[in-house]
Amino acid sequence: MIIGGEHMQSIWYDVGTDQVHIVDQTRLPHEFQVLTLANMEAACHAIESMQVRGAPLIGVTAAYAVYLALREDAQSLDHACAALAATRPTAVNLQWALDRCRAALQSVAPESRVLQALELAQLMEKEDIAICEAIGDHGAALVESLWQEKRSSQDRLNILTHCNAGALATVDWGTALSVVYKSAERDIPLHVWVDETRPRNQGAALTCWELAQADIPHSLIVDNAGGHLMQAGLVDLCVVGSDRTTRNGDVCNKIGTYLKALAAFDNQIPFYVALPLSSIDFTLDAGVNQIPIEERASGEVTDIPGRTTDGLIASVRVAPEGVQVSNPGFDVTPARLVTSLVTERGVVAANSEAIASLLD
Ligand code: MRU
Repeated sequence: MIIGGEHMQSIWYDVGTDQVHIVDQTRLPHEFQVLTLANMEAACHAIESMQVRGAPLIGVTAAYAVYLALREDAQSLDHACAALAATRPTAVNLQWALDRCRAALQSVAPESRVLQALELAQLMEKEDIAICEAIGDHGAALVESLWQEKRSSQDRLNILTHCNAGALATVDWGTALSVVYKSAERDIPLHVWVDETRPRNQGAALTCWELAQADIPHSLIVDNAGGHLMQAGLVDLCVVGSDRTTRNGDVCNKIGTYLKALAAFDNQIPFYVALPLSSIDFTLDAGVNQIPIEERASGEVTDIPGRTTDGLIASVRVAPEGVQVSNPGFDVTPARLVTSLVTERGVVAANSEAIASLLD
């Protein structure tokens, strides 16, 4: 992603100083702050507190965290994997990354383990960039054909997205937003409807910030506006990311995704899910009632953070004191509502056979 004219990633390793850096996403869009992850505990905190978030980025952060843990104690592989696995339960990329680290490192002699852990994290970082770019290319081909169908009757293509599945949710490019960026590179005139994505407002805070950096026309909408815009003919396609997709094509993503998919289905609007293979959980047959859904703090619902007129970042309470709250972080969109999955290996239907074919 380009920030202030400079290319940046959401996470990177500085060879000269042997430090892992992240962009602190809890400060955006108000402040751009880079943090250094000093050790594995700091990485756990970064994932839990959502200084880093988004399924692919959580996976790469976990790989670097394993390196940070081994750098302090080369025998701490099991402890590090257990601590990291407990941070956020829904995004399967976390477990995927830890399984990969464990498989690659457990039989390596302690004196070589640290360097190998670093090389593996660097590899996963690079792979994530290439994968996200490929997802964008495949998705842009879909967007291009839709635009060719519609261009005689309208002057832009309207895309609706939910949460932040952008460069900030990965190392670079993003998944859903990679499709947007790659479509813009093809000179398709785009406009993006950005769901604010309560309770943490990743759409308002992060997706709008990213799209502004990339100069992509966009409008912020409240989460309840999408259905109305679809009925009014103002949405041509939806594209979202995924935290975990099961073998049958059920898609778990940020809370509210399911309602958008229902509205898109009712209005015959294509609903695409852009995801890397590392977000597919091949151990689960179906998603509904099977994927662990993260229950998050009640304060995310009762209070809203933002910047005050005197420039401070603060929270205000919007609900009565003592109110009972339920705050599931994710929901599952059944495969029947998903038009296609856009992966680094191409576009496939959301069903078991098509998903299995991705492994061939
Ligand atoms: O709670 P978050 O902000 O980590 O949730 C992120 C999402 O739901 C994204 O859509 C998903 O991780 C895909 S990111 C490419």
